[in-house]
Amino acid sequence: GSSKLLVKGGTVVNAHHQQIADVYVEDGVIVAVNPNIRVGDDVTVIDAFGKYVMPGGIDPHTHLELDFVFPGTVDDFFSGQAAALAGGTTMHIDFALPLNGSLTAGFEDYVKKAKKSCMDYGFHMVISKWDETVSREMELLVKEKGINSFKFFMAYKGLAMINDELLLEGFKKCKSLGALAMVHAENGDAVYEGQEKMIELGITGPEGHALSRPSVVEGEATGRAIRLADFVNTPLYVVHVMSIDAMEEIAKARKSGQKVIGEPIASGLALDESWLWHPDFEIAAKYVTSPPMRKRGHDKALQAALSTGVLQLVGTDHCAYNSSQKALGIDDFRKIPNGINGIEERMHLVWDIMVESGQITPSDYVRLTSTECARIFNIYPKKGAILPGSDADIIILNPNSSFEISAKSHHSRMDTNVYEGRTGKGKIEVTIAGGRIVWENDELKVTPGSGRYIQMPPFSYLFDGLDKKDAIYLNSLQAPVKRAKVSS
Ligand code: URP
Ligand code: ZN
Ligand code: ZN
Ligand code: ZN
Repeated sequence: GSSKLLVKGGTVVNAHHQQIADVYVEDGVIVAVNPNIRVGDDVTVIDAFGKYVMPGGIDPHTHLELDFVFPGTVDDFFSGQAAALAGGTTMHIDFALPLNGSLTAGFEDYVKKAKKSCMDYGFHMVISKWDETVSREMELLVKEKGINSFKFFMAYKGLAMINDELLLEGFKKCKSLGALAMVHAENGDAVYEGQEKMIELGITGPEGHALSRPSVVEGEATGRAIRLADFVNTPLYVVHVMSIDAMEEIAKARKSGQKVIGEPIASGLALDESWLWHPDFEIAAKYVTSPPMRKRGHDKALQAALSTGVLQLVGTDHCAYNSSQKALGIDDFRKIPNGINGIEERMHLVWDIMVESGQITPSDYVRLTSTECARIFNIYPKKGAILPGSDADIIILNPNSSFEISAKSHHSRMDTNVYEGRTGKGKIEVTIAGGRIVWENDELKVTPGSGRYIQMPPFSYLFDGLDKKDAIYLNSLQAPVKRAKVSS
């Protein structure tokens, strides 16, 4: 962006501080944050009096243009990002999948898909098998391609599931590279068993999805991953924390000083499993995502965990399928493509559920939706802050205005929305991405190709104090103390 912008008179909110100030932007970068900045008439002035001026959201968990278990998702890198921008998210980190078993080929495939991007993005890489080549490719991606996180699936048996032996290899490699290990924590064997059981019982509808993989299988895998990460002494990031069971494992580990990050997603905070029992299959199927939504109460507990710092940031797991695709599972819940929307709704939902309700402050909101993600993935303060030198990714939220969610007005290509009809307080009226006004007066102005790939360097703050040179397990395997020989 070559334009000059002045955001005038708003309450500028960062994760640690808020003040009434103007924000001056030139060439896509924030130049000054001060009260009463004076500018010439070549500068576009945006009025923010009475409103909050905050860093654009960063969504740490999305699946755009995903071809995984089921045929492709409907949101590609352009439509998904356009939706994100309309909802105040200005960067996302997507999960790149290996291609024909190769991480580098998978990475290049995603680079190609993301060419049409209209906002900044980064990648996590998924690890779905283990050998010497995978290990070497991880190294190359970290050292040359700007990847600093790898996700392991403990679920999806027979597809991508990683056993404990491989999980340990992967964690060791992550540690040696300063890359963050991430897990989808559900016990894949237990899920498989649960699914068989449901089918035997004749439960084939969407409710079978929740019944077959109860929170205990999420809690077990979360606890196991945490303990294995402790054994290797490397930081761990648990994606889509959906249950009290998983959250409590994280709480316990953090209390003992272990570096574990927990990411709830918007749907886990806003919804519960009752939708899966809806008599209309088309409606119920919208809510199939893994891990499943839980009974009422888990949502509130996850909110409380966010507000008390037990969980650190909010993602979406945006993975958009149309109703015709969901219909593949009309006779068998195992064939319902799993995934829900959220990339456009997250910022509004978190404001309404967490700030408007009084559970957190606007500064906490900025931390949970933007700053902490930037810190964890080591791109702070380029991202996640309104500071001189930071990228001009800025939102203006009007706390007195309301939002309304509907498939009729959303910007995703999905033909449904899991938040259909939901309204709330706090509307994002303006989104500025890379110094350009991309969302204003309910209108999107987005340009394919304007988004940039953001490289994420290894050794984030989570590695502070850990041995950076090798993968020796400093916690569990200390230099062995030999037994003294006893002479008789
Ligand atoms: O059901 C989901 N969440 N689909 C996307 C892939 C994943 O497991 O995150
Ligand atoms: Zn100040
Ligand atoms: Zn997952
Ligand atoms: Zn996901």
